[in-house]
Amino acid sequence: MISIEKITKTYPGRRAGEPTIALQDVSLEIQKQEFVVAVGPSGCGKTTLLNLLAGFEEPSQGSIHFDGRVLRGPGAERVVVFQQPTLYPWLAVRDNIALGLKLKKLRPIDWERVDYFIEMMGLQGFAKHSPYQLSGGMQQRVAIARALIVEPAVLLMDEPFGALDAQTRNDMQEFLLNLWERIKATIFFITHDVEEAILLADRVVVMTAHPGRIASEITVTLPRPRTWNMILSEEFLDLKRQVLEILRPDLTPLTSITQNG
Ligand SMILES: Nc1ncnc2c1ncn2[C@@H]1O[C@H](COP(=O)(O)OP(=O)(O)O)[C@@H](O)[C@H]1O
Ligand SMILES: [Mg+2]
Repeated sequence: MISIEKITKTYPGRRAGEPTIALQDVSLEIQKQEFVVAVGPSGCGKTTLLNLLAGFEEPSQGSIHFDGRVLRGPGAERVVVFQQPTLYPWLAVRDNIALGLKLKKLRPIDWERVDYFIEMMGLQGFAKHSPYQLSGGMQQRVAIARALIVEPAVLLMDEPFGALDAQTRNDMQEFLLNLWERIKATIFFITHDVEEAILLADRVVVMTAHPGRIASEITVTLPRPRTWNMILSEEFLDLKRQVLEILRPDLTPLTSITQNG
């Protein structure tokens, strides 16, 4: 469905310095209904890659094809969910979600559909609330509803749970897994959290920095539906080790932790 071919993205350097190579020679295929997660340290080009897929930026070299056609600019079939939920504080939950339809010029607003999404996101009873009356996780569910209500073919998620506390984050990961089982959209999700990547993904794309590159792709064989308690399974720990060996080659594995003295 999406084919990224040998992309390089450079940004002009600050002042007269060297240009920043945000991505170098990156190639990636994403299949329809696949859940792909890119993981890597800050500055490895994750957001740049997502912005290229969203059509917010253009590659300096290489090309991206979407359904066989060269991708040019943003489109209604690709929507983005950011780390901050970017809701309109003066609009109620219901109106924030309906905004997705308005922006895509789907009028008149189908309010039944809006209510259906409120239900799907577990936001029953909060339709008339303002965003500031909601928890961080709930706000992010509103943002996800606003994105999904236009039935995009691809959901692009840029560290959507990065600003949430640990418990809410885990809840949202399970929520997204459950949601994805039902909607089966194609998802490209980025994170710097290795456990989050493995828990969610069909395939983990491991990126490294300076310049931003794809170092490896790891297929996640864990069965679905997935739940958070899987992170302690042998299979999970083995995948985690594989990813960390690429991201943190400086770590020396301990065979055991011994106490001395
Ligand atoms: N608009 C921009 N102008 C100049 N440099 C940028 C711009 N956006 C990103 N960069 C640089 O490109 C590199 C990759 O950034 P980014 O894609 O945001 O990484 P990540 O999301 O993995 O943290 C970084 O070195 C960053 O400073
Ligand atoms: Mg980023």
